[in-house]
Amino acid sequence: MSNTFCILPWLHLYVNADGSVLPCCIGDYRYPLGDAKNSSIEEIWNNENFKNLRYNMINGLESPHCNACYQSEKMTGNSARTHFNQKFKKYKFLEDFTQPDGYLEKMDFKYLDIRWSNICNFKCRTCCATFSSAWAKEDGNKNVYIFAGGNSNDKLYNELEPYFEGVEEFYFAGGEPLLTDKHYAILEKLITLGKTDVRLRYNSNLSKLKFKNKNVLDLWKHFSDIEIYASIDHYGEKAEYIREGTNWKQVEKNIRQIKEYTPHILLSTNSVISVLNVSTLNNFYNYILENNLYSKKYSPTLYTLIEPDFYNFSVINDNLKHKIIDELKTRNFDENLNAQIDGIIQTLEKTNYNHENRNNFLEQTKIYDRKRNRNLLDYFPELKSI
Ligand SMILES: C[S@@+](CC[C@H](N)C(=O)[O-])C[C@H]1O[C@@H](n2cnc3c(N)ncnc32)[C@H](O)[C@@H]1O
Ligand code: SF4
Ligand code: SF4
Repeated sequence: MSNTFCILPWLHLYVNADGSVLPCCIGDYRYPLGDAKNSSIEEIWNNENFKNLRYNMINGLESPHCNACYQSEKMTGNSARTHFNQKFKKYKFLEDFTQPDGYLEKMDFKYLDIRWSNICNFKCRTCCATFSSAWAKEDGNKNVYIFAGGNSNDKLYNELEPYFEGVEEFYFAGGEPLLTDKHYAILEKLITLGKTDVRLRYNSNLSKLKFKNKNVLDLWKHFSDIEIYASIDHYGEKAEYIREGTNWKQVEKNIRQIKEYTPHILLSTNSVISVLNVSTLNNFYNYILENNLYSKKYSPTLYTLIEPDFYNFSVINDNLKHKIIDELKTRNFDENLNAQIDGIIQTLEKTNYNHENRNNFLEQTKIYDRKRNRNLLDYFPELKSI
């Protein structure tokens, strides 16, 4: 196998809410392989971009779409590429069906990640209009709603439905997947097909478990393999500030309902670590653990925010940074969470203070605090000296 080979372009499809098709969710968005709004998936699957990508992968050549993986491999030896090659190694034989120019007649999806729309009821500070219609509305954008399939997602859905039978894993993000009609259409179709052993993976804000006349818990009861990563960056009022739209009591209630009615679901948290929550991380995870807001195999993911710059660690001055590091070093969780917090400490230590980013942070905060009738320091007094 060549050292740039990745199995995903042989069995996976990623479509962004704006219709751009990428080799996967970390593929570089500046190099879309096609546009699902105005081409069929069949056309895109063997267009010049897709064929070149496969050709490069077979021949050990790098493609700009996959830089995130090459960078990660240089730093750590591992990447999403190595992960997926291992995960789907039984499908390596698909490479043998590829023609010399990268053409692949077989279109047999095993893993689908379609971000059907940007429909979302939240306006998380670190997010944006591409992922959230609530953000787009607040920013006064002309197009509030974006759909992966253009005017109607029906065409895209109808193109993909015949492949559901063979799919092993669906990943739902968005937008907010629990407010996405095609998410429900997929679950209902899978139940009709009797394909309830398929893996369902989610990132969700868990604000609503009911959509129109459907209760997602009733649907989830049919499926044996579900993983939910609840996007939670803090608890209580801090959560309501960071992830505008949050009613914390309701999120907690929903988590307890999931645990009670669908205890087989692996429920964990996915947190974006930014200037807003980094100084109180120990307090946040103590709350999650003390209140039992997770399932048996709770394995939280801490994701260090990279963009936008004005929410990353570069806005924190050295004095405050050392205080935060000292506080984080008192962490006392399990091995996994301790190791991830140590990673955050290392990133803090490596990140240089940037005065321009800090000023942008204060400016952006002021703008959105005014729009949302909030005041940063009422929620985060620990950031007074920033
Ligand atoms: C865009 S959301 C879509 C799914 C769903 N609405 C949710 O919040 O889980 C996917 C993930 O991106 C995370 N996210 C938000 N802002 C981010 C940023 N600036 N950098 C990286 N991830 C971010 C969210 O917290 C969430 O876990
Ligand atoms: S090499 Fe990496 S970026 Fe490219 S498709 Fe595979 S996992 Fe995605
Ligand atoms: S809930 Fe998800 S999609 Fe909505 S604004 Fe927050 S991060 Fe973005």
